[in-house]
Amino acid sequence: MIAENGLTVTVYAADEISAGRAAEAAGILGAPFTRAEPDDGTPVLRFAADGVTFVCGGMEIKGDFSRLARRVRGANLREELLVRAVRSKDIPRPRVLDATAGLGEDSFLLAAYGCEVTLYERDDVMFILLEDALMRALRDPGLCTIAARMKAVHGDSIPAMRNADGAYGAVLLDPMFPQREKSALVKKKLQLIQQLEPPCTDEAELLCAAVAARPRKVVIKRPAKGPFLAGRKPDHSISGKAVRYDCVNVRSD
Ligand SMILES: C[S@@+](CC[C@H](N)C(=O)[O-])C[C@H]1O[C@@H](n2cnc3c(N)ncnc32)[C@H](O)[C@@H]1O
Repeated sequence: MIAENGLTVTVYAADEISAGRAAEAAGILGAPFTRAEPDDGTPVLRFAADGVTFVCGGMEIKGDFSRLARRVRGANLREELLVRAVRSKDIPRPRVLDATAGLGEDSFLLAAYGCEVTLYERDDVMFILLEDALMRALRDPGLCTIAARMKAVHGDSIPAMRNADGAYGAVLLDPMFPQREKSALVKKKLQLIQQLEPPCTDEAELLCAAVAARPRKVVIKRPAKGPFLAGRKPDHSISGKAVRYDCVNVRSD
């Protein structure tokens, strides 16, 4: 498979159990499929019994909601910046459209809080990682109730938002931004995600479509000191040390 950014991916099945799923994914991606682990440094989508991992340049990414299990169990969930940004007094748990799903971690927090979330992801490899993480969460007794509130859709969210016609209380936007984080770990993970998805170039179109969806509000995740998305000043912001949520009010009924 040659992705939009010129990245060629090989699909590798590490064991017999995963071979069927891996071969199917290779067919969908139009990517080479192998049962022998590539050792020439090419980007690999590895299917194994414990899940699907994207491996590239000595780094790995894999969707894994169990990492968030402790964070969503505590009473502090309602104080999460994202939860505070999304909820309103009269609609504490709105239906949410996550227009830039990635590995779905933000959506998972919202689903844990009780929101029904529809997640759009357009990148083929990222969608496979997201779907795999959701599948594993649905089989995990500690995560399944939360994962059941999340519906992943493979495709561009822009047309979906244009046709949403007020069906969602909130739209979440978190397009890729130029990397600023200080943490080496976050840096590494972002670097790898950027191999799949370069920084967003359609900011104005994304924001315009989110407003056209007629939610109560559009919530935009930005780096704490990052510029406003498409230069649009929000109605208010909720800021933390590393991130800021800019809220644009759209409809008040
Ligand atoms: C920074 S990541 C999102 C991370 C996510 N908030 C999380 O918690 O894991 C941005 C993702 O948005 C996706 N994306 C960007 N524009 C999109 C669009 N118009 N439709 C669907 N997905 C989009 C990219 O492919 C990328 O995977």
